[in-house]
Amino acid sequence: MAPKITVIGTGYLGATHAAAMAELGFEVLGLDISPEKIATLSAGEVPMYEPGLEELLRKHVAGHPGASGRLRFTTSYEEVGEFGDIHFVCVNTPQKHGEYACDMSYVDSAFASLAPHLRRPALVVGKSTVPVGSAERLAALLTEQAPAGEGAELAWNPEFLREGFAVQDTLHPDRIVIGVTSERAEKQLREVYERPLAEGSPLVVTDFPTAELVKAAANSFLATKISFINAMAEVCEAAGGDVAKLAEALGHDDRIGPKFLRAGIGFGGGCLPKDIRAFMARAGELGSPQALAFLREVDSINMRRRGHMVELAREAAGGSFLGVRVAVLGAAFKPDSDDVRDSPALNVAGQIHLQGGQVTVYDPKAMENARRVFPTLGYAPSALEAARGADVVLHLTEWREFRELDPAALGEVVTGRHLLDGRNALDADRWREAGWTYRALGRPRA
Ligand code: UGA
Repeated sequence: MAPKITVIGTGYLGATHAAAMAELGFEVLGLDISPEKIATLSAGEVPMYEPGLEELLRKHVAGHPGASGRLRFTTSYEEVGEFGDIHFVCVNTPQKHGEYACDMSYVDSAFASLAPHLRRPALVVGKSTVPVGSAERLAALLTEQAPAGEGAELAWNPEFLREGFAVQDTLHPDRIVIGVTSERAEKQLREVYERPLAEGSPLVVTDFPTAELVKAAANSFLATKISFINAMAEVCEAAGGDVAKLAEALGHDDRIGPKFLRAGIGFGGGCLPKDIRAFMARAGELGSPQALAFLREVDSINMRRRGHMVELAREAAGGSFLGVRVAVLGAAFKPDSDDVRDSPALNVAGQIHLQGGQVTVYDPKAMENARRVFPTLGYAPSALEAARGADVVLHLTEWREFRELDPAALGEVVTGRHLLDGRNALDADRWREAGWTYRALGRPRA
């Protein structure tokens, strides 16, 4: 009989994983400690914007007309313990307040709450991004605290989904990594991922520490790649080069590849920034701080981008933000997401506002979240309205909608036709032809 699956923590990762498991044919019970979240998901609604996720949820959530009914939600650990053969732990691990290290309290409390309800053999699978060494500790905790004892086994299975592509990445992962200590655990996970494996997703079977490290290493590599091209943007600006052309040329080298070489205001979100910091902190604890010292530079190049964007905006505004109207296009940390956690766009908007600029923000999906984080900024219902009367327009999140804007139409409502492209994603010629000054990070002025 197919194993029954539970998913603990129904944030980005968990909600997507739960819906994907139901799509793969399993009976799934999702748990969250927030009753509001459970009520929303049970009603077939997703509390964040993620393309395709709501459709997938509605296809399976019990009680929704026409749904398979394979997916249910609860707040009860007891029910989860009784129901599941395989429990995926998907709670978040944010950065600790005032420290680089990651806050393990949600993971720890999920394991502590689950363990006493594991009365029969079960596999607990950690998916959260954790400091290396956590799995070993949590495996011991399970054996100690679960009534099933040795029957409560742990596996580590990091998740590589990208926001905006979460459903696609979960159903068709580019690799599946599992850290296991028994053949039984490997067999069970092969069964869970039978479909993606049959489709050709590669499987890497390894030990606990390697599985935990793969995740931290992957995000560190991506962050490094982005900061590398942003460092090149700084040099290009100093030398009069064009970073977009440079990236294009580098990308033709198969060993480098063209992806994640888009220079701009840098990376943000709930993962890359906090993951590189937690990785550095952990390397320090393990006695090899030097190994990851370069990540400090990766972080600092990245954070510098935001300040640089503010300086370019100040320059475009004539040297001061006082009395200057600034339109900001984009608030999400990246397109196709309403996530504003550590968003470079919102950070730049906030800095300009705090320095006396009158900032009006528009984002296709992240308005509500942005307003919650930064209620003192101005918000407009469209790009055109945000730009009305603006002295300077900043393009800070590369939504498709912004690439499709008509420079002439926008030109009619602004006070000054000054565009700064913080994402190197707009067609410079189109804007210049419509009478705009167009400037982008790491590129020549005209
Ligand atoms: C990232 C990883 O890409 C996922 O593989 C990983 O699973 C996830 O973190 C996680 O740990 O959960 P995500 O945070 O959704 O995914 O965002 P990315 O697509 O990696 O983008 C991160 C940031 O880099 C964004 O702010 C984006 O605008 C920026 N970026 C990306 C650039 O500035 N330049 C680029 O060329 C690419």
